Amino acid sequence: MKRSDFLRTCCTGIAGTALLPQLMHAAPDALPAPAWPSIDPSDERFWTLLRDQFPLTRERAYLNTGGLGASPYVVLETVKGKMDELEHICETGHTDEALHGIKVNAAGLLGCDAPELALVRNTTEGINIIAQGVTWKKGDEVILSTHEHVGNSMTWMALARSQGIVIRLFEPSTASAAENLERIMTLTNRRTRMISIPHVVTTTGLRMPVKEICAFARSRGILNLVDGAQTAGMFPFSLHDIGCDAYATSGHKWLMGPKETGMLYVRKDMMDTFTPRFVGAYSDGGYDFLKGTMAFNPTAQRYEYGTVSMPLRAGLGAAFQFVQRIGIATIWERDRALSSHLAAGLRAIPHVRVHSPEDPALCSAMTTFEHDRLPSLEIQKQLTERNLRTRSVNEGGMAALRISTHIYNTFEEVERVLDGVRAAKF
Ligand SMILES: Cc1ncc(COP(=O)(O)O)c(C=O)c1O
Repeated sequence: MKRSDFLRTCCTGIAGTALLPQLMHAAPDALPAPAWPSIDPSDERFWTLLRDQFPLTRERAYLNTGGLGASPYVVLETVKGKMDELEHICETGHTDEALHGIKVNAAGLLGCDAPELALVRNTTEGINIIAQGVTWKKGDEVILSTHEHVGNSMTWMALARSQGIVIRLFEPSTASAAENLERIMTLTNRRTRMISIPHVVTTTGLRMPVKEICAFARSRGILNLVDGAQTAGMFPFSLHDIGCDAYATSGHKWLMGPKETGMLYVRKDMMDTFTPRFVGAYSDGGYDFLKGTMAFNPTAQRYEYGTVSMPLRAGLGAAFQFVQRIGIATIWERDRALSSHLAAGLRAIPHVRVHSPEDPALCSAMTTFEHDRLPSLEIQKQLTERNLRTRSVNEGGMAALRISTHIYNTFEEVERVLDGVRAAKF
């Protein structure tokens, strides 16, 4: 498809004409012009054409979006363009309009209000802001799962060491959402101060019943934080509907934004509960040093401070637009079609055990498996020799392999994984 076709489809595409100037800017002649498919996503050719939007090599099948997402040209060009523009005049580019505009885009996808969002570096930073923002008492209990990513475990372990909080663990069930809620309820007592659980568990891709867990926490006056590292850009959800106190997510995974981007959501009425610990320019909302007066910014901007990279943030804004242009429901449908094809194929291979949930209501776009006759690191090595990038899983005492399937992956790549596992030498 030629550049002229691409420009025409911009005007008729899902997001309409509002994107046109930015996308035009994003496709300089020096790069392969990204051809935006003018056909419907139900047609397989849409995805073939969409793949052209990414510089990601085709030689190696990249199946680790759960670790890091590949960015499309439009994101990379927005970052580079903003960097050039700002270096030309040597300015930070921190205008209220620009930053607010990015948060408005983000809020549209995440189902919250822009002032409830802080732009942070990654999910881990968001989790730390919340964990450090509470005034803990020795003996306060925090409930986590046994399958936490280090980003949502080490934070709490450090607080156990420095503040004397107590960590209580439950084993996540891949069989039943109700069972997970039940296990959390069983751990709860009058010392329980916080429940911090992943929306999608990093090990198995299990989707947790976060709405029910947060409702339970609120009914007991327990703080709650959702680790959403694996969600934004993978499937539709609404933070207001979930009803959590706080939610941390990444821009550099399923959203396909620049590396070192993330969002922290803090519900409007919870801002004063989570005290900002790192503060400075931008955290303030009425401040006079010489008079000794200070107030935090009334919005989640209170968690932001100091000079930041505007090019990365502008790229994040472009990533939100990119995702919204395809449509998050369409992305989810595609990701799930790929992952369910993969899971079904793996389940049919002798000696293979799929650890991800079978129930579609609990599944995500990450599929984790083990081969009973072969250590996972060995099977990973064999897949790597076939140019397949996977991720080993060792959290929660597991020794498995995780495959992420996102919009730049293909059914042909999924077949390559299945062929590689079928042909595994043991
Ligand atoms: C569940 C979970 N939490 C937190 C993280 C850390 O994310 P980030 O690197 O954006 O801090 C990850 C990364 O894989 C994760 O899977």
